[in-house]
Amino acid sequence: MIRNFCRNERSRAILLALLASVMIALFALAAGPVRAQAPGSLDHLSTGFPLTGAHQVARCESCHTRGVFKGTPRACASCHTSVSRVAAVIMPTNHVPVTQPCESCHTTASFAGARFSHVGIQPGTCASCHNGRQATGKPGGHISTTASCDACHRTSSYRPAFFNHTAVVAGTCATCHNGTSARGKTANHVVTTASCDTCHRTTAWLPATFSHTGVVAGTCATCHNGTSAKGKPTGHFVTSRECDACHTTTAWLPVKPYTHLSPFYKPHNSSVTCAGCHKSNSEAATWTFAAYKPDCAGCHAARFVPGSHKKVDSPQILYTVGELKDCSGSCHTYTNSTFTTVLRARSGQHRSTSGGF
Ligand code: HEC
Ligand code: HEC
Ligand code: HEC
Ligand code: HEC
Ligand code: HEC
Ligand code: HEC
Ligand code: HEC
Ligand code: HEC
Ligand code: HEC
Ligand code: HEC
Ligand code: HEC
Repeated sequence: MIRNFCRNERSRAILLALLASVMIALFALAAGPVRAQAPGSLDHLSTGFPLTGAHQVARCESCHTRGVFKGTPRACASCHTSVSRVAAVIMPTNHVPVTQPCESCHTTASFAGARFSHVGIQPGTCASCHNGRQATGKPGGHISTTASCDACHRTSSYRPAFFNHTAVVAGTCATCHNGTSARGKTANHVVTTASCDTCHRTTAWLPATFSHTGVVAGTCATCHNGTSAKGKPTGHFVTSRECDACHTTTAWLPVKPYTHLSPFYKPHNSSVTCAGCHKSNSEAATWTFAAYKPDCAGCHAARFVPGSHKKVDSPQILYTVGELKDCSGSCHTYTNSTFTTVLRARSGQHRSTSGGF
């Protein structure tokens, strides 16, 4: 190895000069390139400028132009610039604007794949690089904004984006929150055209609040279907009537008094529960004595006590259930079987709302 002979700087310099002249001669003769660190060649490390990375395969004369060795520039930027006599790769025109030396971001291995360090970058200056030319800019379909990137992005990653809502005008949320520019409504979102801030704050989507002001009566189920908003729980009374026939908008419980539509329903005291008649938990009432539907006896035939319903005292004639199935009308006691003269009149004996038979 040449190094073994390099006892001192002087002998080294002589040797190098010698080598150099040999090489100049070689360059002149041979057309082919001379590779650095070819076997037996100079240990360039000793020059204080080790040939590493791409420089290992660079031709000697690409740096040592016109046979000049001593004083060849050492700083990357001295050669890797268009004003150098050394023809080396230079910064592309779309290079990020930099003030640091090349080697703070690049090695001699390759200029490509450099990691950019944002240390020292001033807030609000992002777009000076992030303009789609020098560094990644806003992709197509990006939220429409002229704000600086760092209003919504950190330097570590574009995702997730954040946003300072301080200057946002109430009611304008959807200009951004449309699912493209910024997060929009979820697929199964409550059906509404109202501005997001009717129900949401800017700090978090949850919890959401909902004002029923302006909700049209009878339209509850368009939202309350279990998807857009809370729907009927399992085991709920099976009914096709709108929620507000039984519920208010302030709370699901307690249910409000129910007003029947069907004329078959006979008003009862509130002590008679829904399930007392709707034994199948559905709109259809249970008619235990279907033959008497829709009269009182359709449900109460079993409560009929014949002995208490004398038509004639003596000889005794009793009313049948069928005759008194509506629990009203001619339940008088007559003097005899001609039923022409009323002996005793009874009225209001057991009205469905009076309590007890
Ligand atoms: C990437 C550029 C580059 C390449 C390629 C390169 N050198 Fe150098 N070389 C330098 C630099 C820079 C110096 C240091 C110059 C200085 O400090 O004065 C140097 C120094 C030298 C010196 C010592 C000059 C002196 O008087 O101190 C010699 C001799 C030399 N190189 C020979 C070669 C040979 C032979 C090759 C090819 C095998 C080669 N170099 C390839 C950049 C290069
Ligand atoms: C003395 C001139 C000189 C100096 C100083 C120098 N280079 Fe080079 N460099 C060259 C030459 C000549 C080449 C080969 C031609 C080319 O590919 O540009 C090269 C090639 C490269 C390549 C490969 C480029 C490519 O795309 O093929 C990289 C990377 C590189 N140098 C990085 C550096 C870095 C980093 C520094 C500073 C630490 C540096 N260079 C210093 C002259 C120099
Ligand atoms: C602050 C960091 C930084 C500095 C300083 C810097 N660069 Fe870069 N450079 C980059 C980044 C980042 C890239 C893009 C890398 C990529 O896209 O793979 C790049 C890309 C390049 C490329 C294109 C590489 C390619 O193949 O796409 C070249 C050439 C280059 N720089 C040369 C230089 C030179 C010459 C210097 C010094 C004069 C320099 N750079 C200084 C960060 C820097
Ligand atoms: C001096 C130029 C420059 C400035 C100023 C700058 N950046 Fe960068 N930034 C880059 C380069 C170069 C890259 C890497 C290549 C690219 O993504 O285009 C990068 C990458 C990023 C990345 C991607 C990081 C990754 O690893 O995926 C984010 C995010 C980013 N910058 C955000 C910002 C923000 C926010 C600001 C303002 C506070 C900012 N940058 C200012 C040059 C800059
Ligand atoms: C008002 C807020 C806002 C501003 C300002 C903003 N962005 Fe964005 N950006 C977003 C949102 C929101 C997304 C979507 C993020 C997501 O889907 O998680 C996004 C997405 C991106 C993406 C795509 C990220 C990915 O992985 O898909 C890039 C790149 C990006 N922005 C770059 C920029 C650059 C560069 C700037 C400055 C010139 C900028 N943005 C300014 C809000 C903003
Ligand atoms: C100029 C665009 C813009 C406007 C206007 C806007 N936002 Fe945002 N908002 C964003 C961006 C960007 C984000 C962050 C990325 C995302 O969540 O999509 C965000 C995030 C949010 C978040 C999530 C916060 C978190 O940390 O989870 C909520 C909630 C929100 N906005 C509500 C609102 C409401 C309510 C309004 C209307 C008063 C509104 N925004 C107006 C751009 C906007
Ligand atoms: C009428 C009230 C109302 C309006 C207006 C409204 N939301 Fe909602 N939003 C809700 C309710 C209620 C929920 C469900 C809350 C829950 O699951 O506890 C919800 C849920 C969401 C969620 C899902 C949150 C999560 O993490 O599960 C997002 C995102 C959302 N809304 C975005 C929006 C956006 C964007 C707008 C405006 C374009 C908007 N909302 C308008 C009431 C509303
Ligand atoms: C535009 C959609 C929409 C319509 C229409 C609607 N609601 Fe709501 N309602 C909601 C949302 C959203 C909530 C809150 C989230 C949830 O409970 O799923 C809510 C909550 C409720 C609550 C729970 C209140 C609480 O604080 O616990 C009741 C009760 C209610 N609604 C009843 C009704 C009734 C009755 C109607 C019909 C008159 C109705 N809603 C119409 C969307 C709607
Ligand atoms: C015919 C009357 C009626 C109608 C119509 C009705 N409900 Fe109910 N709902 C009830 C009754 C009765 C209960 C049970 C009350 C109890 O447990 O005390 C109930 C209970 C509920 C509960 C459970 C409350 C709790 O906290 O336990 C919810 C939720 C509910 N209903 C939602 C709905 C929705 C949504 C609609 C419309 C799609 C609807 N209901 C329509 C009568 C009705
Ligand atoms: C005394 C018996 C009785 C009671 C108590 C009763 N219902 Fe009914 N309900 C009926 C009859 C009878 C019908 C007609 C349907 C039939 O003949 O099967 C009916 C029909 C209904 C219907 C269908 C629509 C309508 O109004 O005609 C609903 C809904 C209903 N009832 C809900 C309730 C609820 C809720 C309660 C409790 C608050 C309740 N019912 C209590 C007897 C009753
Ligand atoms: C669809 C079935 C049904 C019909 C029709 C019906 N009821 Fe009832 N009624 C009930 C049920 C269920 C109860 C409560 C349990 C019981 O007392 O048998 C009840 C209770 C009563 C009670 C006792 C009330 C109390 O507070 O204890 C009277 C009185 C009564 N009904 C009268 C009538 C009369 C009068 C009619 C006809 C106008 C009538 N019912 C029609 C189902 C019915």
